[in-house]
Amino acid sequence: DWTMSAYRAEMVEKIRAQVGTERVLCALSGGVDSSVAAVLIHEAIGDQLTCVYVDHGLMRLGETEQVVGMFRDHFNIPLVHVDASDLFIGQLEGEADPETKRKTIGRLFIEVFEAQARKIAEDGKGAPSFLAQGTLYPDVIESVSFSGGPSVTIKSHHNVGGLPERMNMKLVEPLRELFKDEVRALGRELGIPESFIGRHPFPGPGLAIRLPGGVTREKLDILRKADAIYIEEIRKAGLYDQIWQAFSVLLPVQTVGVMGDGRTYDRVLALRAVTSVDGMTADFFPFDMTFLGRAATRIINEVKGVNRVVYDVTSKPPGTIEWE
Ligand code: XMP
Repeated sequence: DWTMSAYRAEMVEKIRAQVGTERVLCALSGGVDSSVAAVLIHEAIGDQLTCVYVDHGLMRLGETEQVVGMFRDHFNIPLVHVDASDLFIGQLEGEADPETKRKTIGRLFIEVFEAQARKIAEDGKGAPSFLAQGTLYPDVIESVSFSGGPSVTIKSHHNVGGLPERMNMKLVEPLRELFKDEVRALGRELGIPESFIGRHPFPGPGLAIRLPGGVTREKLDILRKADAIYIEEIRKAGLYDQIWQAFSVLLPVQTVGVMGDGRTYDRVLALRAVTSVDGMTADFFPFDMTFLGRAATRIINEVKGVNRVVYDVTSKPPGTIEWE
């Protein structure tokens, strides 16, 4: 695609001009956006870039391994992998309020990242003065304006805000003008594997906001297993690319069921799938009932702890895409 190859060249020049000989720190989230930003910046300035992956333990099945492997093996980009899952999960265990969960994750992320940045600054190559972020255009206009009303922030996003000011760093945000589909095109242009580029968006706070109530390792395990089955069924049905985002939410509700000749009292899993252009508005995806029945049967049979599956038919607005 000549447009993206021109954009790539232009951004590489801009990044070099902006950064000069200084060092850049990149907070990799494991998602497409920060990965594309990191690969682009690495192309521009090579080992002036240090990538840090703060692993909050809230990723989907196999995701952390995929990201770490891609950077180290495929791109040969040095990556510091910080396993902070005990810290994050420990602090989220007793917390049920959605905004407090988001803020806790944002705060811990900053603390862990800052501590790592201090270590990197002591390595003799000088303190990084720039921070790279995979901020997209829709992240920039995060607040939603209701007709006739004031501008209201619906959810605090943990990938924009506080960090650069607090750390007294300048920002490199090469994706600031792009929408998601353009970021994907740029990622393909940079040689990032399709299996990674084509993935549905995933929120910074991870699975924590798909588990209403407190976060525990047990709930995370159930959610991961169930969600992997749901996504596998979507892929098998050839529907993955028609859907903008699909995921599962493990509800803090237990219901009575029957398995064999016994009574069960297990959790409810909600399935969600939406079509959207940019995440600002969305319609629920009209699966046929055969598909939903098949996915539900597999999940209930294969995932211990879930005995009921429901499908979310709410569009955005009035619902948001995520449940928290
Ligand atoms: P909502 O739930 O607000 O989500 O309709 C819109 C899109 O944004 C994603 N999302 C986030 N992405 N950090 C992110 O990077 C966040 O804190 C965050 N919260 C929601 C959500 O998955 C959907 O694609």
